Amino acid sequence: MKKTIQNNLSLLPKHVAIIMDGNGRWAKKNKLKVALGHRTGVISLREIIRESNNLGIKSLSIYAFSTENWKRSTIEVSALMDLLSEFFTKDIDELNDENVKVLIIGDVEGMPEPQRTILKNSMALTQNNTGMILNVALNYGGRSELIRAAKLIAENYKNGEISLDDVDEDYLANMLYTKGQLDVDLLIRTSGEMRLSNFLLYQCAYAEFVFPKVLWPDFTVEEYHKALLEYMSRDRRFGGRNTDE
Ligand code: FPP
Repeated sequence: MKKTIQNNLSLLPKHVAIIMDGNGRWAKKNKLKVALGHRTGVISLREIIRESNNLGIKSLSIYAFSTENWKRSTIEVSALMDLLSEFFTKDIDELNDENVKVLIIGDVEGMPEPQRTILKNSMALTQNNTGMILNVALNYGGRSELIRAAKLIAENYKNGEISLDDVDEDYLANMLYTKGQLDVDLLIRTSGEMRLSNFLLYQCAYAEFVFPKVLWPDFTVEEYHKALLEYMSRDRRFGGRNTDE
């Protein structure tokens, strides 16, 4: 029987991470301004959030703005900030109704106003929701996240709250922004680029990677299903062996 998502729901990843790449190239290809590429990217994002929630994915992590993205032109950065405000103002009630918990991962304090307040309000509104966790990486870098964790651990050690033996993989995982969540099972990066770009370095240790060629604004639910089916066909061994070969 052909493998479909519906008859193999138990094989779905529990944590999906997405690098939404290709908005700029999509805009160029369509002779549009880059801001319109990002705006069209938000339409894809909305559909993928909805579908992830329908499928019962536990955590969806999206890379929306890295610590390196500040290097882009003022016009592009400000277009992205406007889109963020718009998204978290217009879509937050629907996300809340769908029981989605929004978690901003990254340095929220380093975000400009009014985005900082809008983001904090979105987190506060949805903090007790028990459905899918939507991790939105903003002003985020994987190495910075690990440095932050190292400092938190050092602080706890200095205060005598822990001994060195208490520091193991789980302890460190609980010092990350994604505290309490499962590791990433599937990482999708659109546009054919095959890089991790400092995204969820610790959490992706055993992730399966899928690199669809389509640009993010062209990433439909159908493309998402293809990536999920590709993941479901993989043989995950976590360093061990599944057969007696
Ligand atoms: C990468 O494409 C995409 C980004 C840097 C930003 C992604 C942001 C959004 C989809 C919209 C904002 C997010 C929310 C949560 C509302 P790129 O511009 O690097 O593409 P390119 O490599 O083709 O230039």
